[in-house]
Amino acid sequence: MKTIMLLCCESCAPSLAQKLADALEAQGHKTAIWNPIADSGEHAIPRQDAAKRIAQGQKAQLLDALCDNAEAAAQNADVLIALPVYEDCAIRMAYELNTAIARNLDAMLVPAVCTKDKTDDQAVEAIELAIQQFAQEGFTLDVVASGCSSEVVRRLANKNITVIQPKCAKIDFNVIKPSCHAVTPTKFMRSLHAIARAQKKTIVLPEGNVDRVLSAAAELKKQKLVDVILLGKKDDISAKADELHLDIDGIQIVDPQNDTCFDDYANTLYELRKAKGMTEEKARTLMADKTFFGTMMVYKGRADGMVSGATTTTADTIRPALQFIKTKPGIKTVSGVFLMSLADRVYLYGDCAVIPNPTTDQLADVAVASAATARAFGLDPKIAMLSYSTGTSGAGPDVDAVREATAKAREAAPELLIEGPIQYDAAVDPSVARTKLPGSPVAGQANVFVFPTLNAGNIGYKAVQRASGAIAIGPLLQGLNKPVNDLSRGASVADIVNTVLVTAIQAQN
Ligand code: ACO
Repeated sequence: MKTIMLLCCESCAPSLAQKLADALEAQGHKTAIWNPIADSGEHAIPRQDAAKRIAQGQKAQLLDALCDNAEAAAQNADVLIALPVYEDCAIRMAYELNTAIARNLDAMLVPAVCTKDKTDDQAVEAIELAIQQFAQEGFTLDVVASGCSSEVVRRLANKNITVIQPKCAKIDFNVIKPSCHAVTPTKFMRSLHAIARAQKKTIVLPEGNVDRVLSAAAELKKQKLVDVILLGKKDDISAKADELHLDIDGIQIVDPQNDTCFDDYANTLYELRKAKGMTEEKARTLMADKTFFGTMMVYKGRADGMVSGATTTTADTIRPALQFIKTKPGIKTVSGVFLMSLADRVYLYGDCAVIPNPTTDQLADVAVASAATARAFGLDPKIAMLSYSTGTSGAGPDVDAVREATAKAREAAPELLIEGPIQYDAAVDPSVARTKLPGSPVAGQANVFVFPTLNAGNIGYKAVQRASGAIAIGPLLQGLNKPVNDLSRGASVADIVNTVLVTAIQAQN
């Protein structure tokens, strides 16, 4: 399905949309016209509702709802033509909203450029300036709407710019393509939902009686993307859900100490850890702990993954998994990464959660495991082994360690694109990359970042999150045989929902 987003005035847009639809229908393409924010019409959000959501800081939710509506409006259509949102005293950021809709729908943005009373030279210049302005916002435009002269149309055609004349509004189906390829947070979250939906998994949440966890469970039930199991006493959890007005009907609740599998689980823990000094009695005591019990449910396959840590430290949350879920074959190191969903791209940062002072072998492991994690979430990994030096620009034992780790990662996975040592600016900025590391297939385009220590990684992800407003999803533990993920003790309900979602996706792999 292709989408066109018109950016023209309220009086022109409907007739232009209809003419474009007629032109496409004449080529045999089923076309739908959609008014995203309007007080009437199917699949439209009323203006006042939209204004309220923007005012309440719920722009992301609004965009998500608009994407749902666009999908519904486009059912059975080859092309969706979206009308623009107009500015008035209720909605004061129409331009921003329209470009956001275009980005999130992978639409071809078609702005109207007024050339009335302009000479042909002025008209060409006006259209080119409009295109350049949109380029500053990441849009590559080669189609505009303008009632300019046929000479202007001809001159622009020589520059590969198509002008749609509002009078006849001819458009070729083949020229319709996305004007922007940004991976926005809305797009990324929707892609995660689609992946989770494709193969539904069951995730155990040991902290069943924590308010935020219970709210997340209710939200996950509504989304129907993941099944959850809550640990705790049924009566306590039900009473708390009533108190919080949450619908958790149908969610499985397991009370570890009264569970029929308790003895088996305690015995399994004893068998797995007896060589490390575990006794039968200690195993029973540990199995009464919700984190050990939840981790054992994952080990036994009763749940596909576990998310915990809303009230416990990282160490207490992940130690049981390190002790008996253990690492995947061929992997020695468990590390923790964050998916950083920025305004127009997604990065993966690691290790931000587990290994305080990694050896060069461990750093190499983090790089290789991060590449696999990146792929599981739809990224094509280009790995930067971060340092304060790019190439040979700086020297010292810390730089040497990153160089050695890079060599080990390349040896372990020769097919991967890895660069190191490299500074952050050279890793992300093509112009810096051209100066500092010309010819590198990673410099300037990295999307997976391996930090040299846990200090650097943990500080780095929090700094970017706080300074840019990025959505930081994680930490995702990678390298474990089965997925277990830790929550920050400050995790919000949305953080918990997102972590459960990504844990379910890890469980698919
Ligand atoms: N990869 C694989 N296995 C590991 C790892 C690892 N990174 N770390 C420990 N293990 C294994 C050990 O080999 C050992 O196995 P064994 O008992 O079968 O021999 C077992 O786990 C326990 O090892 P210990 O060395 O006793 O581990 P300990 O429990 O002391 O610590 C831990 C492990 C919890 C990961 C520790 O390194 C730690 O506390 N890291 C920092 C966590 C943290 O505070 N992160 C920052 C906050 S997170 C955030 O902000 C999002």
